[in-house]
Amino acid sequence: MRKIPLAELLKAGIDSLFLFVMIDTKGLIRHLSKAYAAILGIPAEEAIGQPVKKIIPTTGLLRVLETGKSELGQLFVLKNGESTICNRMVVYDEDEKIIGVMSMALFPNMDQLAQFTLQLEKLQKENELYQRQLDALKQNRFCMDSIVGNSPQIKKIKETLKKAAMSKLCVLLTGETGTGKEVFANAIHQMSPRCYGNFVKVNCAAIPNELLESELFGYEGGAFSGAVKGGKPGKFELANNGTIMLDEINELPLHLQSKLLRVLQENELERLGSTKSVSLDIRVICCTNQNLGALIEANRFRNDLYYRINTVEIAIPPLRDRREDISLLCDSFVKKINFMHGCYIEGVSESMVQHFLQYNWPGNVRELEHVLEQACVMTASGILNESHFDFFLPRVYPGAAPLSPLSKFDVAVEAVEKDAILKALQNTKGNKLQAAALLNISRSRLYERLRKYNIEAVFRSDK
Ligand SMILES: Nc1ncnc2c1ncn2[C@@H]1O[C@H](COP(=O)(O)OP(=O)(O)OP(=O)(O)O)[C@@H](O)[C@H]1O
Ligand SMILES: [Mg+2]
Repeated sequence: MRKIPLAELLKAGIDSLFLFVMIDTKGLIRHLSKAYAAILGIPAEEAIGQPVKKIIPTTGLLRVLETGKSELGQLFVLKNGESTICNRMVVYDEDEKIIGVMSMALFPNMDQLAQFTLQLEKLQKENELYQRQLDALKQNRFCMDSIVGNSPQIKKIKETLKKAAMSKLCVLLTGETGTGKEVFANAIHQMSPRCYGNFVKVNCAAIPNELLESELFGYEGGAFSGAVKGGKPGKFELANNGTIMLDEINELPLHLQSKLLRVLQENELERLGSTKSVSLDIRVICCTNQNLGALIEANRFRNDLYYRINTVEIAIPPLRDRREDISLLCDSFVKKINFMHGCYIEGVSESMVQHFLQYNWPGNVRELEHVLEQACVMTASGILNESHFDFFLPRVYPGAAPLSPLSKFDVAVEAVEKDAILKALQNTKGNKLQAAALLNISRSRLYERLRKYNIEAVFRSDK
């Protein structure tokens, strides 16, 4: 391959530039790109050596030569009437001495520059979108991890959640109290592209009926006595571009059910006392621990609203129907509680987990979390076993006599064992070899038990 000299390469590069002109310190043109020469209507070779002022009367190069200050991003009107943006830059030699000034522009007119800007903006927007999707994917893992459980039911729900999160569809989460409806609603928001918007929670049962309407839909100033002067946005407006979670939706009074239905259908609302409508872009998640079907039958819940909010319906099963999640939940809660309360609990003993598996968990995951919290805080370190759950075991075995320390199996066995060893030692007057033979156990086993029950010391001092 022919080696192209640098000067030749530079000249080819300069000629390919739409606008390039360079002058020396005397104001004479030293380089002119072919494309620019064509606009000026003069062959490039003829312009070389001519005063720039003569060839380009409106030039700003002489000013830069005089001030020694480069000018970037300057608007410049060309001879053909087109405008462009040019950079005028001072050129120095190796000793930092000014040897000339050059001007260059990349676009022949503003249209092309505008097109370029548009393209840049488009790329920037695309980039932002990818960034958001990437964040959502990262978040996705994080959120999925926040839902603890490996049972087939939970795995299936996680799959549905992933799909639902990407859409704007209304989601209805049903399940008994403490099953994790709020955890799942949160995960949907965090995994969705609207995770940058607000996640607004409204508990329809916790707000008095007379306030609920203004809380949800907001009001204009002077809408009613006691209203804030400038008016107030409602929860729906606060959740715009984000997610609103309507908890205990079954408690929403009938007249607000109709209003909610209208908002969902029209994607806009009017604040109380206003005729101006606010347009909404909102994902709605409704939660309930009541059977909405039964409420519809009793005319306490609107049929049409039900069909509007249950586009995706996720029924979270009670904990007793997915007991295989209990062990994982225990591990996760112990870690969380250690962190929150500064404890050093290592875990829950296997035999204690067996008791957990027997229980019905009417309070579901919340109850399990609270039971563990109580045991951890009272214990602070080590492995949690039956002795740490005195307050809980009667719930598992109601009606059973409370466990006295002796009626616990391990403790009872130890007491019998210790008693037998002491009797054997008394019989043999402290001779361990004979005592082991009498008990029909090996000498090493006897020694191990003596250490365990601290018997040797007792016996020696007895002697
Ligand atoms: N799958 C889960 N993984 C981790 N934590 C969970 C899970 N499910 C529930 N929890 C925890 O259990 C507690 C109760 O969950 P949550 O408040 O979401 O229940 P809920 O279904 O909304 O109950 P309610 O109907 O009483 O409002 C919370 O502390 C939550 O962190
Ligand atoms: Mg809840």
